[in-house]
Amino acid sequence: MTTEPTRVLFVCLGNICRSPTVEQVFRDQAEKAGWAAQFVADSAGTGGFHAGEPPDRRAIRHARERGYDISGLRARQVGPADFERFDLILAMDALVLEGLQRIQKFSRGNRAELTLFLDFLPERKGQDVPDPYQGGPEGFEHVLDLAEQGSTALLRELLKRKGMFGCGC
Ligand code: 4NP
Repeated sequence: MTTEPTRVLFVCLGNICRSPTVEQVFRDQAEKAGWAAQFVADSAGTGGFHAGEPPDRRAIRHARERGYDISGLRARQVGPADFERFDLILAMDALVLEGLQRIQKFSRGNRAELTLFLDFLPERKGQDVPDPYQGGPEGFEHVLDLAEQGSTALLRELLKRKGMFGCGC
């Protein structure tokens, strides 16, 4: 059984809507299941235009309504060094995945497994978490639905890989 924490980085475009939401949902699910010490979760954006900012206030509000506090998170831009620091780098959509593949080429260590976040959810394999930034409230609710479903599937898979079955999630 591995006890070293698995390091997971969630990445979207701005790091103010989707990836901070998924980061916190995943962290809270791991904690509720009693596996907090097994994981390190973080998030970043392929774009740096919101670096240093808190999440979008709509994302904060919708997350809070479901019991997740993302207000303390701050946006940052992903870089080549992240491919050395993280075990998994999970993209929110295909465009972000393409951007990450380009950045990955500049990484020296490059040990991270890079894929789409929803690839861990069999019924949504290959699908995007749609960008809610320009749309209405339903987009933020959809992000939360996908964050919850995808995080449960990811947690199960990672615990399985660590040999921790009966994960309680
Ligand atoms: P995110 O959403 O990638 O889920 O954080 C976006 C946030 C900001 C912008 C685009 C998407 N923007 O163009 O400023």
